[in-house]
Amino acid sequence: MKYPKEYLDEIKTRLKVSTVVSKTISLKKRGKEFIGLSPFKNEKTPSFTVNDEKEFYHCFATSEHGNIFDFVMKTQNFKFGEAVKHLAQLAGMQPYMFSKEDEEREKKWKNYQLIFNQYVDFYHNQLLKNENYSIARDYLKNRSLTIEEVKKFKIGYVEKNPIFFEKLKKNYSERTLVETGLFYLDEKKNMYVERFRGRLIFPINNISGQPIALGGRIVENLEYLAKYINSPETNFFQKRSNLYNLDIARKLSNKIDHIYLVEGYMDVVGLSKNGIDNVVANLGTSLTDKQILILNQFFDDIIICFDGDESGYKAALRAAENSIKELKPEKQISFLFLPNNEDPDSYVNKNGKSNFIDFTKRNKLSIHQFIFSHYKKRTENNPSSLAIFEKKLRDISNTIKDDFIKKYVLEYFLEKIAELTPHSNQNKKKFFAKITKSLDTTKKHFNDTQSLTGVELKEFSLIYLVINNLNLIQANLHLIENIKLFTEVNKKIFKSITEKLSVKEQISVEDLNLDSQFLEKINKFAPIKYILKNQADNDQKIIELLEDISRDLMNYDLEFRIQELESKFSMDMSETTFNELKELKKKQNIN
Ligand code: UTP
Ligand code: MN
Repeated sequence: MKYPKEYLDEIKTRLKVSTVVSKTISLKKRGKEFIGLSPFKNEKTPSFTVNDEKEFYHCFATSEHGNIFDFVMKTQNFKFGEAVKHLAQLAGMQPYMFSKEDEEREKKWKNYQLIFNQYVDFYHNQLLKNENYSIARDYLKNRSLTIEEVKKFKIGYVEKNPIFFEKLKKNYSERTLVETGLFYLDEKKNMYVERFRGRLIFPINNISGQPIALGGRIVENLEYLAKYINSPETNFFQKRSNLYNLDIARKLSNKIDHIYLVEGYMDVVGLSKNGIDNVVANLGTSLTDKQILILNQFFDDIIICFDGDESGYKAALRAAENSIKELKPEKQISFLFLPNNEDPDSYVNKNGKSNFIDFTKRNKLSIHQFIFSHYKKRTENNPSSLAIFEKKLRDISNTIKDDFIKKYVLEYFLEKIAELTPHSNQNKKKFFAKITKSLDTTKKHFNDTQSLTGVELKEFSLIYLVINNLNLIQANLHLIENIKLFTEVNKKIFKSITEKLSVKEQISVEDLNLDSQFLEKINKFAPIKYILKNQADNDQKIIELLEDISRDLMNYDLEFRIQELESKFSMDMSETTFNELKELKKKQNIN
């Protein structure tokens, strides 16, 4: 039994190698690649590399090399079929069952692709070459689109009285052709017509770049025609799980961490023309959870930029309420509102790339800021209105799936409401404290079970190791230079030891002038003494132990700083704090 190539390709396209690998080992970004400790060998220095662009991993220690399928087969002992099932699920795809229906579907898919490719190529070439299509070309010129964009997006033009159906009929059944959504039966006239006749067509590709649907725009302003139409839902096209330009934009995700989400085809084309290619459009429907999840597979920050008019604002609000459910730590969703009557296309064409980027930086609102400010505008300063307001915000917070985010968004909302109602502030404050406390269990991610004694014991181990290996440490002074301690007494003593080690040669414990009570305590409590006993002369091992302690202490440091920032973030909800927090958490994962 053989999986169809397209199915496997789609899994590969949807999953970055680093996404798959980091489920098993911690990766650290280094240039274009990621590095980590090899899962195939017990090692202390990382020799395992992952390259998302080239779609493979390579282990320099063992020369193991391969793609995502190889990786899960080797690390989880899966057979190929099991690896495919496992990864398809991770990619959010249906399992492939090798049933009669799957086979049937496979055959249909082959024809579907063939028909779409012919259709798109044919009308694209017509637009480029056919002299009779000046009406379409003039339209494009008017909108200052060049051949370059037409080619890049494979834009086409379908003439008013097209004959492509007749051509295709020679090779495909009417049913097969109608199933593509490109044609339909006009029952009055009892003939098949082309849905996109008289329109510019924008091919909508699946994630692997295969066209599966079209968007079509009229070129003449005819009142009775919709400005845009999209392909209907077909066996291979669902509006809710596709995005225009995702196939191109996702390739940038190795270099860029944010993606613009806009409303229209022309917004994508216009931004791209101005050098912004990390952009996708949803397809004339409201934004779905599925689309957010897909974008999050590639990008950390989704910037939703809808038109600067009322319908754009409404669409943004719907998008905000839908997408806040999917908000995850490390991911951000923001909103950008353009000046009145501008859309991204018109704005960027008028003002250029750097102005657009500047405008984004200055004006984007995080999703919770946007939701709060929207409902606040509709609230009056009376109890009933405020009650509705608070209830609404609580309801919205409750839809958030991630507990950690839920907690902070709710806290943010409640704090902001408290600012609005200074008189009841006193009571509210107490009330919040209670809520916060009960939600504190969600803090398990950031386990604060490590007590200060834990830190103290680590510090004791560090000092014990140093004073029992003075010469070795002196020769490797750089290893202890940047270690940070937390307990005041230990900090002071460690500092004085380091200083003495760096000035006097061939130092002995006596030279350190340590307090005898302190020494006694260290000798009694440093947990490391049990390990060191058997390693007296093993310098390599001692250095390794020192590195372990130093890494552990660094993690305490991160832990404390994260906790600090978390409380800061819950107060200011500022983006700078969020970003700092994000960076620290990344570091914590790597260590
Ligand atoms: P807009 O009307 O804002 O289009 O619709 P636009 O991108 O600014 O188009 P131009 O600049 O006039 O060419 C935004 C999106 O909404 C959907 C389409 O997906 C369009 O790209 N739409 C719009 C429809 O589906 N039908 C319509 O009649 C209009
Ligand atoms: Mn427009």
